[in-house]
Amino acid sequence: MVEAPPIMDVDTVRAQFPILSRSVNGKPLVYLDNAATTQKPQAVIDTVSHFYAHENANIHRGVHYLSMNATDAYDRARATIARALNAEFEQEIIFTRGTTESINLVAHSFGARLQPGDEILITKLEHHANIVPWQILAEERGLTLRWADVTPSGEVDLDSFQSLLSEKTKLAAFNHVSNALGTINPVKEMTRLAKAAGATVLVDGAQGPPHLLVDVRDIGCDFYALSGHKVFGPDGIGVLYGRHELLETMPPYQGGGDMIERVTMEKTTFRGLPERFEAGTPNISGAIGLGAAFDYLQSLGWEEFHAHEQALLKRATERLSEIKGLTIHGTAPEKVAVVSFTMDGIHPHDIGTILDTRGVAIRAGHHCTQPLMTHFGFTGTARASFAFYNTLAEVDQLVEAIQVVHQYFS
Ligand code: ALA
Repeated sequence: MVEAPPIMDVDTVRAQFPILSRSVNGKPLVYLDNAATTQKPQAVIDTVSHFYAHENANIHRGVHYLSMNATDAYDRARATIARALNAEFEQEIIFTRGTTESINLVAHSFGARLQPGDEILITKLEHHANIVPWQILAEERGLTLRWADVTPSGEVDLDSFQSLLSEKTKLAAFNHVSNALGTINPVKEMTRLAKAAGATVLVDGAQGPPHLLVDVRDIGCDFYALSGHKVFGPDGIGVLYGRHELLETMPPYQGGGDMIERVTMEKTTFRGLPERFEAGTPNISGAIGLGAAFDYLQSLGWEEFHAHEQALLKRATERLSEIKGLTIHGTAPEKVAVVSFTMDGIHPHDIGTILDTRGVAIRAGHHCTQPLMTHFGFTGTARASFAFYNTLAEVDQLVEAIQVVHQYFS
């Protein structure tokens, strides 16, 4: 018999997130916009505030105590994140501003080797951050962008994906989890297929680690991009994981201080990994805060965390399905706790606005996935996106608030 995982103690977890006890519009906050950004535990807030109050200095530049201390803390954060993602080397973790900058880094640097006629394969399930950099690159370099189809349930159509791979495919780029629908993509299988065709693989992981354990070596991808603010860490900081053999062959993305070995009037030589890709003073407090966020996540019991999120998804799916005129979009069997929906005759922004009057925060709109919305024939959806600190009672508050939306329009 399979043992049921232990139940997560959500009240204790919630107490670690100060914002969750505030009110909005006179009602207790029900925060269901976690795919847009997640809330921060006290451990992350304290780490960032302690850094500025007691440890602030620039890194790599000083022989003085504070600078060396800050450099150590920044390096420790890199090591924590490398372990969390199961990277082989710490130098494979490049700090960026977020997923968007990580993907742009690859588009500029890896993209410089692509030739006219080469192809990049993406899917119709992508966020604009994993579309627009490739469109710009394709235009600049005469490349062809191919789009794998999605199924009616909101999964990548693997036959379509496979049929678009060829020796011309130099890069395949796809998300781990769809921000708009919550679908978990079979990234290990997609990576295997793409690599069998000779392509380099980038996984947009913005929505992965908030919900899933990520093992970049098990996935087998060449690049994995993520954002700090989606994993309970600070904003303006993110990560590009890159396989070191590949990063070693890539030119710098930006030029400036800290990424150089020697500058003369004639020529500059560059440092090795990871500094070559981190020009200028980085977001030091952000990186340290992100390390604290990964430490925090690892302190939670993974099985309880996962079982709790799946219970939230099940309850939300069941209860929302009972509402007349409401359609859930994205019904893949493998999903994180995200429920995207429309209501007959009611604009998603109206749903979001009315829910806000009840203290319920959701996102409404195209979720930066306009090609996906166009594919399904609507301009946007209302999206409730959960984190492990949400409760089953909050699912019920969402449902009650949606009943109010009905009253407004009946
Ligand atoms: N990508 C973020 C979202 O899905 C902003 O809401």
